Order: sequence, then C-alpha cells, then structure tokens
Amino acid sequence: MNPKLKVAVLISGRGSNLKALIDACAAPNYPAEIVLVMSNRADAGGLVFAKDADLKTAIAEHKDFASREAFDAAMQTHLDESGAQLICLAGFMRILSDGFVRAWQGRMINIHPSLLPAFKGTHVHERVLASGARTSGCTVHYVTAELDSGPQILQAEVPVMPHDTPESLAARVLEAEHVLYPLALRKIAEQRRN
Ligand code: GRF
Repeated sequence: MNPKLKVAVLISGRGSNLKALIDACAAPNYPAEIVLVMSNRADAGGLVFAKDADLKTAIAEHKDFASREAFDAAMQTHLDESGAQLICLAGFMRILSDGFVRAWQGRMINIHPSLLPAFKGTHVHERVLASGARTSGCTVHYVTAELDSGPQILQAEVPVMPHDTPESLAARVLEAEHVLYPLALRKIAEQRRN
C-alpha cells in the first residue's frame, strides 16, 4: 500500500479546521496523516483537539524569538523532526518569512474564507456584506509570497442571505470550510501517490 502523505497543521486559535482534518485522517482509507500540530500561541484552543487525538504538538511563540527568521527556523526544526511533507495552515495568524515560504512552495496550503481572488486579507465577511455580493465561500490554495494569491486547489460556494450578519455568514462559510479542507488535502495526497 502507498504510504500516507505526512502533514503538519499550523494553527493560532480555535482550530475547528484542524479538527475537521483530524476527523478526516481518522478514516483508514484517507491518504494523509497528521504528524505534527504546531501553534505560535501556547493558549490556542485548537491544541486540545491535537492532544485528544494523541497527535504530536509543538509550540513556537514568536515573542520568544529575536526575528521572524529565527522564529521560522525554530518551526523548520520541528517540521524536520516530524518528517512532514506538506504544511496545512489552518487559521495560522503569522506572516511567514520569504525564505520559509520559498522552502515550502508547492508543499504548503491554506484555507481562506472567501471565493479568492475576491476578498483577500482580513475582515472578509464584513467586506462581502458591504459589497452586496449574493454568494461567498471558501478557497484552499497553495501559499506563495503574495498574500492569499497562490494557485487554487478547490473552492466551495455558499449563499449570502439578505439578513446575514458577519457572524452568521462566517458560520455558514466555516461549515463549508470543514468539508472543503479535507477534500482538498485528499486531492493533493492522491495526486502525489499517483
Ligand atoms: C477560518 O475561517 C479560516 O478560513 C481562516 O481562519 C479561520 C480559522 O478558523 N484562515 P479555525 O481556527 O480553523 O476554527
């Protein structure tokens, strides 16, 4: 049998997408496995999901490092030790150095809560509502040096309802994210095994 793709998931907070990936990886025939969950915050709620699933965790708090490069080098050491072949950013709220992004180019993916290339960056749902758009959604894409601009892997659409608030729209998009991220990871893992 082909070996599973070894994945590191990087988080900063709640970790609901991490949880969706953990649940997907629990299926015996899923083609990827999580070998490391790393957070740049010791208090990230999502670390609980990793611990409950007996996954290896690492914390690299950026305030402990003199520069972005030193922080990224520490992350790289954890990644090397884990044997990760792909990084999934899942609510990781830290800008990565150019060197780190280059080193992982084509092997690092992210989920963003809009239909990219529309609404890159932050405060997405507020901006979607202000624009009057009738649909929104989420995108899994490769990470490149330019924010939220790398090649897309998969997208899912959701409707924007007339009485949506940023919170209600965020909740609808998040539900779609939890389906899309495992699908996108499966797609990449299967491509690599063929
Ligand atoms: C998600 O909306 C994701 O699209 C964005 O950050 C949020 C992370 O949520 N990049 P969670 O930590 O996975 O619950």
